[in-house]
Amino acid sequence: MALLLTVFMMLTLSQYAAIGLIEKTSTGIVLINPKFPVHSRRKFCNMTVIFMNTDSLLKQRLICVAVIDKPEDAVPLAEALLTGGLNAIEVTFRTAGAADSIARIRQALPQAIVGAGTLLTAEQVKQAVQAGAQFGVSPGLSEAVSQAAHDTQLPLFPGVVTPSEIIHALDLGWKNLKFFPAETFGGAKALKALAGPFGHTGVKFIPTGGINAVNLANYAALSQVAAIGGSWMADRKLVAEKSWGKITSLTAEAMKIIAAAKA
Ligand code: 3PG
Repeated sequence: MALLLTVFMMLTLSQYAAIGLIEKTSTGIVLINPKFPVHSRRKFCNMTVIFMNTDSLLKQRLICVAVIDKPEDAVPLAEALLTGGLNAIEVTFRTAGAADSIARIRQALPQAIVGAGTLLTAEQVKQAVQAGAQFGVSPGLSEAVSQAAHDTQLPLFPGVVTPSEIIHALDLGWKNLKFFPAETFGGAKALKALAGPFGHTGVKFIPTGGINAVNLANYAALSQVAAIGGSWMADRKLVAEKSWGKITSLTAEAMKIIAAAKA
């Protein structure tokens, strides 16, 4: 990392910006599409360097949606997911300890990719970024949340269901969209229909809501599905009971189903 940053600083920022490798922003600089494993931020010479890499986060095609009541459960939960083969966890802003949970996982487990979910306000986006969130998820499409995510360079997966919402999300600059609640709004069948008018735009979906080991393969088989979100591997009760072994086996089962699916 040190070598890379030294090489990086040999040219001026303007030269890098001119060849499209970085963007200068009010909050620092954004390094675009490097071969880094995760989206992250580092302080360097009083500047925030933001490594952009949403692809690596979506590579596993599975995101565990977690409601964590006690922040002390956050690290054991993320460890249980990692043992099951999954590094992506979305900690929902539905509990008071969400930001603390994100910060604890970021500090203890650098190999995990940690996002903030249920982002309903711009303020929550700021709290999530301060805690170290590497991506954000919202159940719906809010211009305030979208703007806050752009301002802080947080990759956002806003929630959509209808074609009009998809058009609006594309207008706001987002291409990986949460499709929520997936099972209630037509499931895999609806996503196949939406691929018709939107396939050429590059839009990809993250179906979430009502997905489990039984119907997971229906979604994993679709090329328009970037990743699948769900809480079934680590539902609130399993976390409260500290059923880490069970969470690991449900996660491993889900990873196996995804690996077997042909997208
Ligand atoms: C979410 O916030 O994305 C949903 O609550 C997850 O849906 P699920 O609990 O049905 O997986």
